[in-house]
Amino acid sequence: LPAMAEFEKAITPKTKAIMVCNPNNPTGYLYSKEELEVLQELVKKYDLYLIADEVYREFVYDGHKHYSAMYLKEIENNVILIDSVSKRYSACGVRIGCMISKNKEVMKTALKFAQARLSPPTFGQVAAEAAIDTPESYFTEVGAEYIARRNVVVEGINKIEGAYCPNPAGAFYVVAKLPIDNSDKFCKWLLEDFSYKNETVMLAPASGFYSTKGRGLDEVRISYVLNCDDLRSSIKCLDEALKVYPGRTI
Ligand SMILES: Cc1ncc(COP(=O)(O)O)c(C=O)c1O
Repeated sequence: LPAMAEFEKAITPKTKAIMVCNPNNPTGYLYSKEELEVLQELVKKYDLYLIADEVYREFVYDGHKHYSAMYLKEIENNVILIDSVSKRYSACGVRIGCMISKNKEVMKTALKFAQARLSPPTFGQVAAEAAIDTPESYFTEVGAEYIARRNVVVEGINKIEGAYCPNPAGAFYVVAKLPIDNSDKFCKWLLEDFSYKNETVMLAPASGFYSTKGRGLDEVRISYVLNCDDLRSSIKCLDEALKVYPGRTI
């Protein structure tokens, strides 16, 4: 590990944070209160984050005491603590940990990442293993239901003037062509500006599935995971929306 005097020398205009792992993996080094106060001064001077991974904080020996970065005054908004149950409870593999900060902006941003990048929960793993024993009859029933749902969507869309929907052979999506100028605009308009009987439909603009810019502007992806009655109402709602959409092309 670098000596305390080395930390400042490593700071450049691109430096955003100092990260310490205390007690340290792999060296086992324990930072003292005084050493952390040196970092506190650097954090203040250069307006940096201090990311402190303290997952081993119960593992401190020979009468030493662990001093948490969370106790450092005046830099409360700069400290981010990383913690985990995996060392404390000898539960490596449960993948449960946390990030703690008094900085609300940091926490808000972290939550967005947490929601976007999911890890498998333990219950999910247990359930997935049990699911392998599901009898074949389940898939026959589900298959029949999805054929009915697909038919509602394909037939329903093909009845709409100016729309075209192919009949897909698998999964539970269709990409339909609609008489619209721009699918991103249309999908947003459906959510923000349109309602029919106090309801609307949520579609995915197909433009996002193409790597070529400009493709898919008159196409939307529809997922038919609703029951047949709800799908019928959704198609009706879509039909009504297309009648009044300002970017209609026919
Ligand atoms: C310093 C440190 N932080 C975090 C972790 C990871 O913990 P988790 O099991 O929650 O992923 C480890 C595990 O080796 C570690 O050494």
